[in-house]
Amino acid sequence: MPATCVVGMQWGDEGKGKIVDLMSEGCDLVVRYQGGANAGHSVVIGEQSYAMHQIPSGILREGVTCVIASGVVLDPEELEAEVAGLVEKGIDLDGRLWISDRAHVVMPYHKTLDRLREAALGDAKIGTTARGIGPCYADKYNRSGLRVADLVKPAGAADRIRRAVAVKNAEIVNLHGSEPLDADAVVEQFLAYAEWLRPRACDTAVRINDALDAGRHVFFEGAQGSLLDIDFGTYPFVTSSNASAAGLAAGAGVSPRRVDRFIGVAKAYTSRVGAGPCPTELKDAVGDRIRERGREYGTTTGRPRRTGWFDAVSVRQSVRIGHIDELAVTLIDVLTGFETLNVCVAYNLDGARVEHLPADAEALDRCRPVYETLPGWQEELGGITSFDDLPAAARDYVTLIEERVGAPVRTVSVGPERGQTIRR
Ligand code: GDP
Ligand code: IMO
Ligand code: MG
Repeated sequence: MPATCVVGMQWGDEGKGKIVDLMSEGCDLVVRYQGGANAGHSVVIGEQSYAMHQIPSGILREGVTCVIASGVVLDPEELEAEVAGLVEKGIDLDGRLWISDRAHVVMPYHKTLDRLREAALGDAKIGTTARGIGPCYADKYNRSGLRVADLVKPAGAADRIRRAVAVKNAEIVNLHGSEPLDADAVVEQFLAYAEWLRPRACDTAVRINDALDAGRHVFFEGAQGSLLDIDFGTYPFVTSSNASAAGLAAGAGVSPRRVDRFIGVAKAYTSRVGAGPCPTELKDAVGDRIRERGREYGTTTGRPRRTGWFDAVSVRQSVRIGHIDELAVTLIDVLTGFETLNVCVAYNLDGARVEHLPADAEALDRCRPVYETLPGWQEELGGITSFDDLPAAARDYVTLIEERVGAPVRTVSVGPERGQTIRR
């Protein structure tokens, strides 16, 4: 398949990093096209584990070139730390990372404002990752952002940064009563990043399309998940980019017609970090058991994730809007040991049966799940390598998911490691 895209079907952390690492073997390019350092994609290879935030997970495969495309909001400070961490673990990045000159840059004031705006929201806060994502995308759409191209220019960058800091300081000081940023310090820091970025900055859309023209294999790695999509997620409790399949075209500069296969990644249950509706959430011992078995603590922020039963209503929407060809169901091993398992197949909203995700977050919050209950299984699944060897109850569980969300499950992940994966 020359062009494949992996996209999250839920509220992020579905195991996209693992699936991309697994499937990008032999690929030429792996491309991140939206989001930024809010993402945390873990990959486990033997004893070693890696957490990627902005660098595509394909970096762990030899011969793969990684691309941070124009739709990503690039945080040079976080990137520096991420690169250093990978180099320390023996990953060679030389010449293997291209960065779009059109990508917007996350500046220190974006992170400050993310924090201050969240604090000002009080109980209504979104629970962001505080990585400056929303404020940076807001500047982009306000046409006042700073792009990699602006930063790496031989002249003018310092003035632009100074002007931007002055504007943001007005909000930081006057609206939030907080300390202003030191413009000179920001200029010095970012001119140093510019030196590092300059040789890596390029028109990534040209390079990706050239690669596709030449018949090379390109893998696209979505960040977050479709239910955090700015347009189709549980607004306003979403991220600030198109985290559904729709983000690819605008974020990479590649026509959706060029993508041969969209793979949706869905956890065998539900998890969510931050605030916002989650109809199948379990605030009980069952939820705690899922959290502990699934080690559901954020890769980026370390926050405990909220957990619940699989929600086929919301995943069905993600499958539909992304025209998902096939699903990878991950973390099914976590569900071992339950007598019965529930799958939400519809909602009850104020007494009426609802089969689609309501637009209004308050309405979604009032939705009560309508469950279909299946028998569980007691066997540990981590060592199973073929679908037929799964316990019958686990196979039935996968089949129910396929039927209810409307896409075939072609990959079942039974553990964090590369090898703990069943392909059908
Ligand atoms: P991503 O953001 O979608 O890449 O997902 P994260 O890496 O944030 O979270 C997924 C977590 O589950 C990581 O710690 C993975 O190592 C782990 N993981 C992935 N697949 C499986 C699986 O099938 N079983 C188990 N037990 N863990 C998995
Ligand atoms: P990956 O790529 C899970 C959530 C935050 C918050 C909301 C908005 O690892 O799946 P933001 O900082 O983006 O403005 O926060 O989105 N969020 C994620 N949740 N996985 C992620 O990324 C996330 N990126 C953002 O918790 O609720
Ligand atoms: Mg994650």
